[in-house]
Amino acid sequence: MESEFLLAMASPLTLVMRWLHILAAITALGGAIFALLALHPTVATALDAEAGKSFLATVRGRWSKVLHTAILVLIISGVYNVSQTIGDRPPVYHMVFTLKLLLALAIFFFAIALTGRSQATQKLRDHTTKWLTVVVVLGVIVVCLSGFLRFVPPKSAEPAAPADASIQSPTGENTLPAAVGSTIVEV
Ligand code: HEM
Repeated sequence: MESEFLLAMASPLTLVMRWLHILAAITALGGAIFALLALHPTVATALDAEAGKSFLATVRGRWSKVLHTAILVLIISGVYNVSQTIGDRPPVYHMVFTLKLLLALAIFFFAIALTGRSQATQKLRDHTTKWLTVVVVLGVIVVCLSGFLRFVPPKSAEPAAPADASIQSPTGENTLPAAVGSTIVEV
């Protein structure tokens, strides 16, 4: 834990990228949660259909710039994070990361479509609440998967197997005292 902190401080860029990644995730996902739980229900009850439509179009125009910036920051900082972590991780890390990446790409697609103006994605905007719900649920899953990745230790931190078979009993158990075993790992 302490050594991890020192490692992060040893590379200020790693720390800055982590901050940017988390801030961008908060911005993008927080915006989607706000839109789903507060903005759209309020517009539906407080404004008539035409006024609501034009109000939401104005909000979308402003929010899309923030969202596109957050997505760009997520991709740049995410690629940097990958370059720092993935090489030394076990297969479970790679599997969970691949799943996270696919879900993140799906989120980017829906989020951009919902704030865009293209006719091709109008069908999605006609069912905004449904697709916003999908974005929020997938976003929460992505955050949980990311938190899990943080707990997968590097391969180099895993205890090594005993180098010499002669230190094992006939039943396959390691017969050396724990202290001696840990000395072997450190060597
Ligand atoms: C919806 C989009 C995304 C969200 C909500 C998200 C969220 C997060 C969060 C909350 C963390 C944990 C940060 C920490 O504990 O310091 C994280 C870490 C990470 N993210 Fe993302 N992320 C997204 C997209 C991406 C993308 C597109 C990439 C790659 C191109 C990426 C790569 C990574 C990596 C490698 C880590 C470090 C995992 C580790 O601790 O080993 N993320 N992400």
